[in-house]
Amino acid sequence: ADEKTWLESRIKAVLKEKDAVLVAHYYTDPDIQRLAEETGGCVADSLEMARFGNQHPASTVVVAGVRFMGETAKILNPEKRILMPTLEATCSLDVGCPPDEFEAFCNEHSDRTVVVYANTSAAVKARADWVVTSSCAQAIIEDLDARGEKILWAPDKHLGHYVQKTTGADMLLWDGSCIVHEEFKYRGLEDLKALYPDAAVLVHPESPDAVVEMADVVGSTSQLIHAVQTLPNQEFIVATDNGIFYKMQQLAPNKTLIEAPTAGDGATCRSCAQCPWMAMNGLKNLLHVLEHGDQEVLVEADTREAALKPLRRMLDFTS
Ligand code: 13P
Ligand code: SF4
Repeated sequence: ADEKTWLESRIKAVLKEKDAVLVAHYYTDPDIQRLAEETGGCVADSLEMARFGNQHPASTVVVAGVRFMGETAKILNPEKRILMPTLEATCSLDVGCPPDEFEAFCNEHSDRTVVVYANTSAAVKARADWVVTSSCAQAIIEDLDARGEKILWAPDKHLGHYVQKTTGADMLLWDGSCIVHEEFKYRGLEDLKALYPDAAVLVHPESPDAVVEMADVVGSTSQLIHAVQTLPNQEFIVATDNGIFYKMQQLAPNKTLIEAPTAGDGATCRSCAQCPWMAMNGLKNLLHVLEHGDQEVLVEADTREAALKPLRRMLDFTS
């Protein structure tokens, strides 16, 4: 506890000293989320993180999350220094969509509007017409569909399938998935729902289709947190990374939160519903990068300029 207190007070001091602000995702360790809140930074979903970093006046933005979040911050703010506790924190969706293969896929289907999920590398975004996050994917695809556009979608097939179903748009899907959400099991969820018949089921759309179909609310991390605060239910079954429980509990202390099962027998598995890359963000590497600046996110100028267009479109569409 002593070491933790020392680390926290050092981080607070160095953030000030270096004119830096901490932006954290809801999946990071509660200690990191708390620090972001206490120091005037923010804890948010991926769209809000992008917007916050873009609007905040600090000259250094420390992004506690995964690589694509740091890259997005750099693309939107080339003049700022963007640091991450570790640049090793990637995402299975990003890894599963290599830029050269993606380029070839786009070239094969050049009649389609290219829409990519934010969970991609800067190079993949640079090839896209639009970037979306889970909080705005549906609205943006709806709009493109209304204009008669055919879509090429990458990389998350579950989110893609969900949006295709709800909008009826013509979407060709890349075959990618999130290793964390992929683990949620429909069978186990059915059993759990039988135990808690009055619970509302909240599901992140990166989950398998059968799990999404059982949801009362499908949405981004922020949208799921909002549902816990606003729905009249007393109990909630939550299918997303369990880092989200920190904020849910804080905002709705009287509600009962239950982890959705990641095994077919209905048993919960703590370590399954936890993103291994989000978990790489800790107090020690956060302080280290603040003091040494070695984990700096850099994006090559051509890529950055090309990726800025679809990202800006998303921010303009959602503002
Ligand atoms: P959100 O945009 O909902 O925060 O999702 C980001 C993410 O990586 C989910 O796994
Ligand atoms: Fe990527 Fe899944 Fe981790 Fe989100 S939870 S960062 S989608 S691997």
